[in-house]
Amino acid sequence: MLYLLALLLHRLPLAMGQYDICKSWVTTDDGPSWEFYACQPKAMRMKDYVTVRVDPAGITCGDPPERFCTHENPYLCSDECDASNPDLAHPPKLMFDSEDEGLATYWQSVTWRRYPEPLLANITLSWNKSIELTDDIVITFEYGRPTIMMLEKSLDNGRTWHPYQYYADDCMEAFSMPARRVRDLSTTSANRVLCTEEYSRWVGSKKEKTVRFEVRDRFAIFAGPDLKNMDNLYTRLESAKGLKDFFTVTDLRMRLTHLYRFQTQYLTLPLPSSSRCKCNLHANLCTFKEGSLQCECEHNTTGQDCGKCKKNFRSRSWRAGSYLPLPNGSPNACK
Ligand SMILES: *[C@@H]1O[C@H](CO)[C@@H](O)[C@H](O)[C@H]1NC(C)=O
Ligand SMILES: *[C@@H]1O[C@H](CO)[C@@H](O)[C@H](O)[C@H]1NC(C)=O
Ligand SMILES: *[C@@H]1O[C@H](CO)[C@@H](O)[C@H](O)[C@H]1NC(C)=O
Repeated sequence: MLYLLALLLHRLPLAMGQYDICKSWVTTDDGPSWEFYACQPKAMRMKDYVTVRVDPAGITCGDPPERFCTHENPYLCSDECDASNPDLAHPPKLMFDSEDEGLATYWQSVTWRRYPEPLLANITLSWNKSIELTDDIVITFEYGRPTIMMLEKSLDNGRTWHPYQYYADDCMEAFSMPARRVRDLSTTSANRVLCTEEYSRWVGSKKEKTVRFEVRDRFAIFAGPDLKNMDNLYTRLESAKGLKDFFTVTDLRMRLTHLYRFQTQYLTLPLPSSSRCKCNLHANLCTFKEGSLQCECEHNTTGQDCGKCKKNFRSRSWRAGSYLPLPNGSPNACK
């Protein structure tokens, strides 16, 4: 019976997808014992755990209440934003609620009254935990995308910030950078920070609502168009310097420097729907405890990211687990 169970468990790593389990009970010639593998949590809905901050103060509409006009008809100014009325308010938390009932809800900024002086807004998302992006970040602008914006990231809970991607209708003019597309990157430039003109064309079309940070296209450079060759991606994540860190963040910031130049601004943000806790390949579970996300560390590691060895398990220095050798990786457990 034990043997049968062990056999079944032993097959799990392959059956369940790669790096899903941290250990299994196996039978060897010396009797049953644990075998350990590199493991990582599943991707989860990270927008459930994010805190958002919008700067500067007073950029959210409705205090004092104001009327705004519709995009299609500038003389039709019947909509109202009133922060004191829940039905008419557009607070930042509406960036993340679900749109189940089909009614779009959104954060909305004040009207751009002082045109042409730019309307500036920072939207900062913090997880208080390092997370690894596994899918595109998609930002939806309900009415018109900004013609210039910048995405920044932090890896140290907001102490330092780095550019992540630049967006402009004219990259040269806005940032003195040539326009590039992620699709044109190569294996050696997969973690390049670039400026793209693909998501900043001027309003007009209500269909063009989204701004994307393309994680999948970057993965596809290694894993192929359908991400079928994940082995190759995992191999490159281990060997290419800086590649793993490129997809890791604790915070993201959108610096909107030129919101839609009409009178009103709307913005909704369904967020990295799909990213996972970074646990250094030492945990396959990540839970929300005492107000923050925490890895459930295995391999005798500990810490929010399993970033150190447990007490009494420090006979050799801590190492992250490794995706290699395929398919189960190395646990690099603390001893
Ligand atoms: C937005 O954040 C940047 C730093 O990333 C800062 O320099 C700038 O002043 C901020 N802008 C606003 C409007 O808060
Ligand atoms: C961030 O996470 C750490 C470690 O879990 C926790 O001690 C701290 O209180 C959290 N900070 C905030 C602002 O949630
Ligand atoms: C962690 O330590 C326990 C003893 O407390 C040991 O039984 C276990 O095998 C260790 N795990 C690993 C992955 O080394």
